[in-house]
Amino acid sequence: MDFIDLKTQQNRIREGLKVRFDRIFEHGAYIMGPEVTELEEKLANYCGVKHAISCSSGTDALLIPLMAWNIGPGDAVFTTPFTYVATAEVISLLGATPVFVDVYESTFNIDCEKLELAIQHTISEGKLTPKAIIPVDLFGVPARYRLIEEIAKKYDLKVIEDAAQSFGATIGNRRTGTFGDVASTSFYPAKPLGCYGDGGAIFTNDDNLASKCKAIRIHGTTTDKYNSELIGLNGRLDSMQAAVLLEKLTIFDEELDSRQNINNYYRKNLQNCQYIPNNYTSSHALFSILLHSSQKREEVIHKLSENKIPSVIYYKIPLHLMEAFSSLGYKEGDFPVSEGLSKRILSLPMHPYLSKGDVELIIDQIR
Ligand SMILES: Cc1ncc(COP(=O)(O)O)c(C=O)c1O
Repeated sequence: MDFIDLKTQQNRIREGLKVRFDRIFEHGAYIMGPEVTELEEKLANYCGVKHAISCSSGTDALLIPLMAWNIGPGDAVFTTPFTYVATAEVISLLGATPVFVDVYESTFNIDCEKLELAIQHTISEGKLTPKAIIPVDLFGVPARYRLIEEIAKKYDLKVIEDAAQSFGATIGNRRTGTFGDVASTSFYPAKPLGCYGDGGAIFTNDDNLASKCKAIRIHGTTTDKYNSELIGLNGRLDSMQAAVLLEKLTIFDEELDSRQNINNYYRKNLQNCQYIPNNYTSSHALFSILLHSSQKREEVIHKLSENKIPSVIYYKIPLHLMEAFSSLGYKEGDFPVSEGLSKRILSLPMHPYLSKGDVELIIDQIR
């Protein structure tokens, strides 16, 4: 059994992929070719947003808007310590300071009450200027954007939705990609919509921000390729990856439905699953449960692996306890919910091609 099965999916789209790859071999525009433009239009339509700007990774999709807003030394950017390292890494990379905020025990997403307290504390300390919030839609479940957007407005902060894991998810009739000032997603192969390498995209309704992000993506250039107006990156998506994503988009909604059915079946039979609020849908990038203790978790992992069932711990070390962030001065006990989740969480196989028999076997072993 695979934790994520990309092979079965590839068999479904292989013929379409060959046609698209042949077309690229013919036209030879390997970078920023017509597939990239086609993909950007389709992504924007899919999310219901004005601009979709493809780029080289989910990490760059977070970095580029921060660069566009000139976020740097002396600025505070609020996010959670219970996420993949990229979310906070981009803040530090620009010389700004990640200010961590604990998560809700139910959804594993940023706790809005604690967020407001952290903003007020940063303001009263007077060392850093609050600039932005990066809420993470963990495992595919959107963060609490109604409250986050209210808080951002109150304190005049920008919001970047880290939708790396939540492409396709919704709150009411709004899709991820439309929350905050800008949203970033990842097309890493294991993501709900993934390519066959690295890739990402930025979504926004802000024309000005979109033009800046487009320029930063190509070394800060706009009209003249050899005359940079801004400091930028080599942050482009290539035509081959765009072709893969275009083919995968044609089956994406069906795959979301399958993930939803598998999720329903898991939930009917298991306790302590990640909570999905009413009116929210998840893209089910991962399916996670909480065990009673780290010792129980070890026993479950062992039992599952004896039956050749893979499981993974996302995330075993919260960011504030990683050496890379040690200069921020956090210590154990600062974010008890994130720390507790790290000790007890376990992700089970989740992909659209998981059979009912496999899910039954997993549930059976856990019980
Ligand atoms: C929450 C989150 N943010 C950002 C990223 C970075 O995406 P990428 O790996 O495409 O750079 C990931 C990827 O795993 C992620 O899970």
